[in-house]
Amino acid sequence: MAQICSFWLWDRIPSMRIGVLTGGGDAPGLNAVLRAVVRAAERRGAEVIGILDGFKGLRDGCFRHLGTPDVRELIRMGGTVLGTTNRDNPFACPGESPGDPPVDRSSEVVENARRAGLDAVVVIGGDGTLRIAAELGRRGLNVIGVPKTIDNDLASTDYTFGFWTAIDTATEALDRLRDTAESHHRVMLLEVMGRHAGWIALHAGIAGAADVILIPEIPYLPRSVAETVVRCQGRGRASSLVVVAEGALPAGGEMAVVAVDPVTGVKRLGGAAERLGRELEALTRCDVRVMVLGHLQRGGSPVAFDRILATQFGEAALRVALEGRFSRMIRLSSGRIEDVDLDEAVREVKLVDPEDPLVKSARALGIAFGDE
Ligand code: F6P
Repeated sequence: MAQICSFWLWDRIPSMRIGVLTGGGDAPGLNAVLRAVVRAAERRGAEVIGILDGFKGLRDGCFRHLGTPDVRELIRMGGTVLGTTNRDNPFACPGESPGDPPVDRSSEVVENARRAGLDAVVVIGGDGTLRIAAELGRRGLNVIGVPKTIDNDLASTDYTFGFWTAIDTATEALDRLRDTAESHHRVMLLEVMGRHAGWIALHAGIAGAADVILIPEIPYLPRSVAETVVRCQGRGRASSLVVVAEGALPAGGEMAVVAVDPVTGVKRLGGAAERLGRELEALTRCDVRVMVLGHLQRGGSPVAFDRILATQFGEAALRVALEGRFSRMIRLSSGRIEDVDLDEAVREVKLVDPEDPLVKSARALGIAFGDE
């Protein structure tokens, strides 16, 4: 009994103070990671400090203690209770006045973490956020990365959480669009997110029985898309559905860009479906409508797969932090949760291989990619 008691006490002496932040665009499952980190930490006697609004909060010292009552119900909540930003790179902060060159404030971030007594910081983010984390790791911050993005474009992990929720959202949108497209004998274009990768378009297009899927990795010929939609409507069907990844581009053309961030130079994609819709109307004389799904794909309650993956990632990140192994990233590899070198992990993005078995299956069913 005495032994059990002393073990109990030892297990609850605060062993480490772990910071946690969410950076970049949000994704369903972020809150589930936070919940997992906090619950696992409390059982191991560690303290968790939430950092508000990504690296900005670490730079400005905006912290919040997180305990089990704070994370109750979080497994099913979309968004992130810590807040996030995809505009605050500590290595390139906006200057004082518009037009001033970016300022490197990374030393403030490292110093603030030290002053707050953070033994490690769990950074939950996509490729941009994790690259910043890797660089901060080289400057002395103890970091552990957790990969997230609805785009699923990180090469080092089979899946990022948020991806399957986004696919479900896009699939439901396609189901609804098919109903109204059939009623009106229309061509419906649905633009989905994914940045330079076509994973969301490919998966949702198959699940939502699209007639055409356009992805950045397979540039399309407008005439070929036009022929397909005309053919679809002549085949006893009254409608056709085209899924357009926001990064989709015509052969020899460019991605459609709506804005360029003046500080980071990052291009905001948008308008790909609108551009094609106009062309299709001219080429086919069909009645064409365009819908941009946009940020609906980023919100909402995570599907079960994303909740489970996020939970496993959070628990593993906490464990790796307590083991004192830093500059690591948690990943899913062939069904196993493991950790890898953070630098290596963020080196490559994962794009759709035009020869991917999923592309081949889709083609075999007669789904067109606009390239032939
Ligand atoms: O990376 C996630 C993502 O949703 C992309 O699919 C999209 O291009 C981008 O973020 C949109 O970012 P923002 O929230 O800045 O509009």
